Amino acid sequence: MSDLSTPPTPDGGALLGHTRAFSRDPFGALERWADHGDVVRLEFPGETFYLVSDPALIERVLHDADGRFVIAEQQRRAFADVEDHAVTTAVGDRWRRLRTALQPAFARNTIDRYADGMVEQTVSRVEAWDDGEEIDLHREMRYLTLDILAETLLGVDIGGNEDVVLDATDALVDRADPRRPAQLLPDWVPTPTDRRFRRKVAALDSYVDRCLAARQEGSRGDDACSVLLDAHDRGELTGEEVRHNLVALLLAGSDTSALGLTYCWYLLSTHPDAYSALVAEYDEHVESKRPTAESRERLDGLRNAVSETLRLYPPTWNTMRQAVRPVMLGGYRLPEGAELMLSQWVLHRDERFWESPSAFRPSRWEDERDRPEYAYFPFSGGPRHCIGMHFAWLELHLALATMIGRVELDVTIDETLTFAPTLSLRPEAEISAIVRHR
Ligand code: HEM
Repeated sequence: MSDLSTPPTPDGGALLGHTRAFSRDPFGALERWADHGDVVRLEFPGETFYLVSDPALIERVLHDADGRFVIAEQQRRAFADVEDHAVTTAVGDRWRRLRTALQPAFARNTIDRYADGMVEQTVSRVEAWDDGEEIDLHREMRYLTLDILAETLLGVDIGGNEDVVLDATDALVDRADPRRPAQLLPDWVPTPTDRRFRRKVAALDSYVDRCLAARQEGSRGDDACSVLLDAHDRGELTGEEVRHNLVALLLAGSDTSALGLTYCWYLLSTHPDAYSALVAEYDEHVESKRPTAESRERLDGLRNAVSETLRLYPPTWNTMRQAVRPVMLGGYRLPEGAELMLSQWVLHRDERFWESPSAFRPSRWEDERDRPEYAYFPFSGGPRHCIGMHFAWLELHLALATMIGRVELDVTIDETLTFAPTLSLRPEAEISAIVRHR
């Protein structure tokens, strides 16, 4: 009888474990390792991870009601000095208090009211592009999602300060890249990446302080900034918590959606038939070139294309959890502190649940196949699922529809599309596009 107490460990080097294979081809390596079993043990210098690739086990971990799993130490480290007091890094009662304070800003009816603002910001950005101009697509999508977020959900004035947020995001993402050799150094050893990180985060902090000071004076509504400041006035949040949560929303709410938009354009540009079908659908169903929260219901093809994009290129490619005490999972005993990788990338490409998983086929969403819920979880799941999920779905639909109605983007990329395995699924090469106004 096989020993079920320890999960299988795929072959790795004696000294560096699975580091070399991961550095060379991170996503291919994860897919191959997942073939070894539903729970697989991976060794990196000073760290052991457990890759979990069975949807039912992922569901058990994410919906855990017994307090056996919390967000991983690795995630708290990645956001250290930026979001230590934010919902993204908190655990236990503190997390519940912060999530409850933020929740009113994410109510469904509040989000739907942002539809006009989302379309407005997209129209302004598209109109700023000249016919025939070459744009840095990913960067433009980052500006767009940041402008939408600031103007609607956050209620802060971003005008001219976009680069402060983008630079801090880049510095955070670079610092968290697991392939960075300096990851092996103790935290107290300063590196150029750390120094750049501190500079960029100081600039972001001072911008956020200015935003909060301005909002403290002005009127309040039900946007996220108001909700945070109201909770502070009632004594439910500290000043530090208000600041770090605003930072968390600025970073979490723009980078991910921008990747979704970028990859959707990339896929449409490389699949002309799918693109033409969306243009025809748009022309048939959207009057006066202005999509609304309601016209979204009629754009089935667009919804399928977005779902398929988030399947193939999930902006958050991995969700981490940590066992707070020894646990049994999938028949294996995992030690206290075990760090679990629940990888969207791996599950979204698992042949057990997806036919031709690497093909872009929006039509696969037309008839709901019977597949386990956690074969697809771009926004994670359970009580800690993405708080911005409804906002993001609406934004992706409306921003894409608005763009499809006004421009065609001919996307080019110098090399094949590869990704950095850092906090989000970022393209390693620049993705540019030639703009043609319709
Ligand atoms: C396509 C866009 C997006 C994707 C794919 C995405 C995905 C995710 C995922 C996978 C998580 C991790 C949940 C977990 O640990 O189980 C998360 C958390 C979070 N997201 Fe998003 N997200 C997106 C957009 C947004 C937006 C627009 C906002 C806010 C405006 C947002 C705010 C957050 C916050 C605050 C958390 C932490 C929630 C908590 O720990 O309670 N996200 N997101």
